[in-house]
Parts: sequence; structure tokens; C-alpha cells
Amino acid sequence: MNAFINGLPKAELHLHIEGSLEPELMFDLAGRNKITLPFASVEAVRAAYAFSNLQDFLDIYYQGAQVLLTEEDFRDLAMAYFRRLAADGGVHAEIFFDPQTHTDRGIPFSVVIDGLLAGMAWAERTLGVTSKLILCFLRHLPEDAALATLKAAEPYLDRLTGVGLDSSEMGFPPSGFVQVFTAARERGLKLVAHAGEEGPPDYIRQALDLLKVDRIDHGNRALEDHRLVSRLAAESMTLTVCPLSNLKLCVVDDLKTHPIKQMLDLGLKATINSDDPAYFGGYLGENWHQTAAALDLDRTDLIQLAKNSFTGSFLSPADIEGHLARIDAYVARSV
Ligand code: ADE
Ligand code: ZN
Repeated sequence: MNAFINGLPKAELHLHIEGSLEPELMFDLAGRNKITLPFASVEAVRAAYAFSNLQDFLDIYYQGAQVLLTEEDFRDLAMAYFRRLAADGGVHAEIFFDPQTHTDRGIPFSVVIDGLLAGMAWAERTLGVTSKLILCFLRHLPEDAALATLKAAEPYLDRLTGVGLDSSEMGFPPSGFVQVFTAARERGLKLVAHAGEEGPPDYIRQALDLLKVDRIDHGNRALEDHRLVSRLAAESMTLTVCPLSNLKLCVVDDLKTHPIKQMLDLGLKATINSDDPAYFGGYLGENWHQTAAALDLDRTDLIQLAKNSFTGSFLSPADIEGHLARIDAYVARSV
């Protein structure tokens, strides 16, 4: 089944580029930028990656991002991610970045985004992997800071596909970000939000009703509310589910009880994604392999998940059709 998964054309729709910072690159960049890390070795960094909830992880993730200073740093980070994605049979990615993590340290917005765009252009040229960029607002900061970030992004609106909402979920409901999401929608941007990773089903409802999102990132806790499940299924709302992340952040106890198979069986448009692969023990392929093995997913499930990753993307209808046709051709070849 792993060989079948590797060859299956796949898209990744939930990936924080800062969460793809491997400890090796962290040390390289720290050396290049003359920054002293609070860890003695790559092994010591990896040993610190034991989390019991989202906040445990976020504390170390924001600390790690501090080695990123220059445009080259952001470009190299993106290039490293795309190499891993291509090796796993990924052909398209819609990547999140957290500008406030960097601008609050004095790094200009342009340095962050120009570096990432350079990495994305390299990936398309060299690996044939396409990508789109989604700017995430940090929800533990005030909405005014998100509005200022959207303003800083004005010169780049033609190169941004959407905005998202991430960071600490509990206590920071979507209702606090209506103004900035409305402004982003008026500028023609797509909208996504993390909801239902740790937060209750009501946060998912708020993301739908108040923010008017096009996708829900995670969405696990929707399963606690039957009416919400029916609505998400009826609206064909894409859920960008992250199995290894859920395991590492104790959203699930065991991959064998991960809800993604149940989501598919309920008619929900679930997708498999890696979230922060350097921190959670696996890139896109590893998420697919481990989930398929733990839940005994069959070919029908895998094909559905691959198709969902494109129909749930922000690619053009023609591009989506092309990817779906490539999936069908691949499946026909690999009977
Ligand atoms: N930022 C990076 N990864 C995240 C996650 N899984 N949830 C919320 N914010 C994040
Ligand atoms: Zn995430």
C-alpha cells in the first residue's frame, strides 16, 4: 500500500512553513546568523519535542523560528520543505506562514514573504511542485495586530491566496477576528481557520458563520455535534486533518482511534496533512502511511483522500480537473 500511496498524486493543504524547520537547519541558520540556541545539539532539540498539548508545542515552535532572519533563510526553509514534499509524491501545497512571529522580532514583512516566494518559485521550476501562500493571523494577539498585518500585506495581495487563523485556540474564538476576515474577503482572499483542534464545535460554527471560511483546519471536534457534521457534509466543507500532529499534541491517544476514517464514512471531505512535520515526526507521506496502516484504509479511501486534497484546494477548476484525471490514470495503471 505504501508504494501505491507514494505514486498517488497528492496535495498538502495544511502546512505551517515554520513548522518544517528541522533541527539540522535550525543549527545551520543559528550558525550563519550568529545566534546561540538554548540547546547543545540536534539530539537535544529533538528530545525536547515531547508535547502534552498545543501550547506546549507552540512555545517551542515560536522559539525555533527565531533563527530565521534573512530572505535566504526563509527561501532555504521553503526549499527544504518542497524537497521533502516532492519525495513523497506531493505535487501541490498551500502553505501557511505566521508573519507576526517575525515582524514582532523586527524582521520586515517583505523579507519573510520575498524569501518564501523565492522558495516557491524554485520548487515550481526545479521540482514541478506548485504552491500557494496563506497568511495566518496569530489568534493569541489582538485583532488590531491582525489588521496591521493585513495592511503590511497590501503590496503582496496578488501573490497571496488567502488568510488563516492559527496559534492557541482555547480562549481565542473566531468571533474575535470578524473585522479582519471581512476585510480579507473584500480584498478577494480565500479564508481558512484552525477550529476544533482543541476548541469546541461552537468554534467551528463561528468560523463558518462569522468568518465565512472556505475550509476548516483540523475540525476534529465537529464529530461531537451531529448537526454540525450534517452541515459540513452538505456544504462539502473541506477539513484539513493532521493525523500525526493530533497524535503528538494528544488530540487523539492512538492513531488507531483517529477519526479520519469515520469522517470519510460520514461523508465529510477530509484530507491528510502534516501541519508541522519537523516537530510531529513525519512529512506528508509518513502521515499517509501511518494513517493508512493504523486505520486499515483501503484503495477507495486513499483515492478519495487524494481527490479531496485537490477538490479542496484553491487551484483553478481546470487545474483541479487535470489533477483528478492524473489520479484516475494512475489508479488505472496500478491495478
Ligand atoms: N501553528 C502551527 N501549528 C499549529 C497548530 N497545529 N494549531 C494551531 N496553531 C499552529
Ligand atoms: Zn496547523
